Amino acid sequence: MTSDELFALLEAHPRTHLVLGRTPLVTAPRMRGALGPETPELYLKLDEETGFGLGGNKVRKLEHELGPTRVDGITHLITTGGPQSNHCRVTAAAAARLGLGCLLVINGDVPDPPTGNALLYEILGAKIRTVMSRAERNPAMEDEAKRIAKAGGQALIVPLGASTSLGALGYVRAAIEIHEQLPMTRDRDVNLFLASSSGGTLAGLMAGFALLDRPDIHLVAVSADVPADDLLDTASDLAVGALARLGQHERELETILPRVDVADDQVGKGYGIPTEASGEALDLFARSEGILVDPVYTAKAAAGMVAAVREGRFPAGDRIVFLHTGGHPALFA
Ligand SMILES: Cc1ncc(COP(=O)(O)O)c(C=O)c1O
Repeated sequence: MTSDELFALLEAHPRTHLVLGRTPLVTAPRMRGALGPETPELYLKLDEETGFGLGGNKVRKLEHELGPTRVDGITHLITTGGPQSNHCRVTAAAAARLGLGCLLVINGDVPDPPTGNALLYEILGAKIRTVMSRAERNPAMEDEAKRIAKAGGQALIVPLGASTSLGALGYVRAAIEIHEQLPMTRDRDVNLFLASSSGGTLAGLMAGFALLDRPDIHLVAVSADVPADDLLDTASDLAVGALARLGQHERELETILPRVDVADDQVGKGYGIPTEASGEALDLFARSEGILVDPVYTAKAAAGMVAAVREGRFPAGDRIVFLHTGGHPALFA
C-alpha cells in the first residue's frame, strides 16, 4: 500500500502529538570513509531528534500509548524502568505536558545525587517508588494505581518501554518516513540497524514495512540485553498485534513481515555495561560525524553495524541505515 493509504489506516488511532516533526535522514560520508572503501552508502535516521523531553524512540511510542481516548479522565501516569530509563524520563515529560501526575516504579537504586535520566525524573516532577527486582515492578504499579484510585484519582499504567501493539504504531509512522526518505531502488537492499530491548520499535518497523511492501528492507536489531530468540518472538507478536490494529486480519500476517535478524552478540557482560566495541563505535560516531550515541543502547547497535561492515556482510551496492533511537542522558549518568 502507499504511504497515504497507511496514514489513512493510522487515522483510526488518534495520537497525542509529542514528536516535533519528521526526523532527518542524513548521509554519513566521513564515517563511511573511516570504515573503508568497500563500505556501502551509509545513512543515519536521527530519532534522537524526535524533540520532546530530550527525544528518542519512546516519544513516538508514547504518542499512541497516550492517545487522547486513553488519557481521558486520567489523573496520573504510572510506569516502570531502571534507574536510568529513557522511557521513564519521556513518560514523566508527557505527564507534565498533559497536566498529569507521574509515578515511576524504579527497580534498583536511583543514584544520589541523581544523574542522567534520574536527575531528569526529578526535574520533571515525577514521584519515585523503588523496588529491588524486575519481578516486583508490575505488582508495585498495580498497588500504586489502587492507592491513587482510593484517593479519588485514576491512573493509567504504561507498560515497560511502551512496547505494546498500540505503542508500536509510532514506529509504523517512522517506517513511512523512512519509506519516503529512502525510496525502493532495484537490486539495492537497505540494511537497517537499530538497538532493541523491549521490542516495540522493531515491531512497528516490521509492521510498517510489511504494509508498505518493501522487500528490499532488511531489519537488523541489536539487543541491549534480551536473548535474540526471545526478542524476535516478542517483536513478532507485537508486529502482528499492530497489523491487527490496522485492520489486517485476513492476510497471512506472518508471511508479509520483512526480513529480520536479531543479534545478541553485542550485549557483552550485560545491560548497560560498555564493551570495547561499543566504546569504539561511540567514538567513531562522535569523531567522524559529530553524532553522539548512548552507551547503553545505540553504541551497542552501532558496534553491531561496524562489525557487519568490517566483515563485508553487505555488497558495496547495498545501503545501510542506522536508526539512532536516542538515550543521550546516559552519557551523563
Ligand atoms: C535509546 C534507546 N534505544 C533503543 C531502545 C530499545 O527500544 P525497544 O524497547 O522498543 O526495543 C530503548 C529502550 O529500551 C532506548 O531507550
